Amino acid sequence: MFADTFKGKKVLITGNTGFKGSWLTVWLLKQGAQVFGYSNSVLTEPAMYRVLNLEQHITQCWRDVRDKDTFAEFLETTRPDFVFHLAAQAIVSTSYNNPWETISTNVMGTASVLEALKNYSHPLTAVIITSDKAYDNVEWIWGYRENDRMGGKDIYSGSKGAAELVIKSYWHSFLKHKENILIAVARAGNVIGGGDWSKDRIVVDTIKAFANNKPVEIRSPFATRPWQHVLEPLSGYLTLAKQLNENHKLNGETFNFGPRAEQLKTVKQLVEDIAKYWEIQDPVRITDTQPFNEATLLKLNCDKAQALLSWHATLNYDQTVKLTANWYKDFYSQDVDMYGLTLNQIEYYERCNANPT
Ligand SMILES: NC(=O)c1ccc[n+]([C@@H]2O[C@H](COP(=O)([O-])OP(=O)(O)OC[C@H]3O[C@@H](n4cnc5c(N)ncnc54)[C@H](O)[C@@H]3O)[C@@H](O)[C@H]2O)c1
Repeated sequence: MFADTFKGKKVLITGNTGFKGSWLTVWLLKQGAQVFGYSNSVLTEPAMYRVLNLEQHITQCWRDVRDKDTFAEFLETTRPDFVFHLAAQAIVSTSYNNPWETISTNVMGTASVLEALKNYSHPLTAVIITSDKAYDNVEWIWGYRENDRMGGKDIYSGSKGAAELVIKSYWHSFLKHKENILIAVARAGNVIGGGDWSKDRIVVDTIKAFANNKPVEIRSPFATRPWQHVLEPLSGYLTLAKQLNENHKLNGETFNFGPRAEQLKTVKQLVEDIAKYWEIQDPVRITDTQPFNEATLLKLNCDKAQALLSWHATLNYDQTVKLTANWYKDFYSQDVDMYGLTLNQIEYYERCNANPT
């Protein structure tokens, strides 16, 4: 899918120990990249990073992304060809409990990466990951386009919107004048897939309940979400990095990476479809409590990614559910080579991408 773009190249991933960072690491290693990770912790137990023993395959730096001097030093010593910035406090509910940590990590952490790029003098292609939640969610029915307004009523969304403003001002003030730096921004929505154990994510709650042979409690059964497999935005980030590297006209651009329209299903439907793989009777218990305000609908318009990058989502809803359920099922069966399984799922994705349904 990405030719030999990453083969033999050095790639630095911030937030590499997280859910997306772990999948991205495996995909880049598969392509022959040398991966450098920069994270301050492993946030969950279990964690895909540990399950796959990724520390054995990469060079890891255990530091805080807000520590700008340390990050700049790591950049200087590793001299990567590509940077993917994913480090963030990524959980909406946590942002209510810990707004300061969320804002400082997501805004100042991004500023720290940009500051290092501002002072960096070697060739480098960078993709900065924010979120669909960076958009000012006016709860309309249309998909959001890259030039729509930034905003965010909850702290997490606001921190991502603020990070976008910081990126824009660094770009206009410094980065666009630097010939050695190519940079672009990627926005995607909530993703599902094996290997996530973060809190307050529906698939994680579902899997944890099913692993204990219990029904999952859900508070908004009829809320619809565009369920997207983690490999979809990652394919977008990698496509963007590849094409940005080849086509400097993409420098400074922002791209949405969203699922197909048909992926919109209710929370209840998703849970019931995952349950089919676990043979659980009565998988859902509905509760009516809503512990925090979360925006109800946000759809991305991905025409720009299609037009300029020829990127499109690959998996249909059934494939998305199947990959997700099978990953966890194999994990909880305990005798499966999870690195091998993850590679198989990436290869399956690549085959589906080459032969779209
Ligand atoms: N998972 C999703 O559904 C989703 C949706 C939209 C956008 N995103 C964005 O994608 C990126 C990755 O998301 P994820 O789901 O993998 O998140 P995650 O919570 O699984 O991982 C976050 C990573 O950031 C690291 N990190 C957090 N604070 C740090 C700090 N101060 N210094 C250094 N490292 C720090 C963690 O150690 C971890 O490696 C984030 O920017 C997130 O906002 C995720």
